[in-house]
Amino acid sequence: MYLFGRQIDIRKHRMFLFGKRIDIYSSFAENNLGKVIYKTVLDYKPMKIVEFGVLQGYATVCMALALKKLGRGKIVSYDDWQPHEPHLCGDIETVKKNLQRYKVLHLVELKTADFFQWVVNPEPFDLLFLDIDNDGRIIELAITKLQTHIQKGAVILFEGGSEQRDNLDFVIANNQAPMYPLREKLGFKVLDRRHPSISICTKDVKYSYRPGRD
Ligand SMILES: C[S@@+](CC[C@H](N)C(=O)[O-])C[C@H]1O[C@@H](n2cnc3c(N)ncnc32)[C@H](O)[C@@H]1O
Repeated sequence: MYLFGRQIDIRKHRMFLFGKRIDIYSSFAENNLGKVIYKTVLDYKPMKIVEFGVLQGYATVCMALALKKLGRGKIVSYDDWQPHEPHLCGDIETVKKNLQRYKVLHLVELKTADFFQWVVNPEPFDLLFLDIDNDGRIIELAITKLQTHIQKGAVILFEGGSEQRDNLDFVIANNQAPMYPLREKLGFKVLDRRHPSISICTKDVKYSYRPGRD
């Protein structure tokens, strides 16, 4: 199987969460980044999580297990469930089975939406998990459009943000906008730089972006 333009061994892309085997395909599993996702939810205790980019539900399960531990909260998980060549696309039936397997289906609502349409009139949320084959253009759009949410205390957690992620072959070959150089302008912090890396934007991270300014 290919992901991010690299041939990968699917057996390595599985993860353990505090002794529990999370047997769901994801690039996050390569470096156990599910643990970072899980811990972030425990730290911020969001009542409502909105997720964009579900694939097979790896991050969904990690976040739902954290909500289960907290004993409250829910996730609204969106994907457009459409092919995104050369990337992988979400598979709703596999996601449902995975959520059932980890006994968290009752905590998650699976819905269909395109992020670029949703962000024009976004619903309220406490934490947004964004993973839609991210690049600098997408992250800039999200953080700019959702600034009111962020200033009210909402958190944006997203795939990527590290220099290494910007330098992957497929990112360069497809001339995708890098994320790392935007961290000061947009006010995000790389939480874990291991592949594919994960970053966070909160109101505590200084937001210096003004529309029209470089
Ligand atoms: C890299 S995968 C997500 C990986 C997943 N978060 C995980 O934990 O393994 C990207 C997902 O985003 C979805 N997607 C891509 N563009 C989208 C868009 N504009 N709106 C909604 N979903 C999108 C794809 O269908 C795919 O399921």
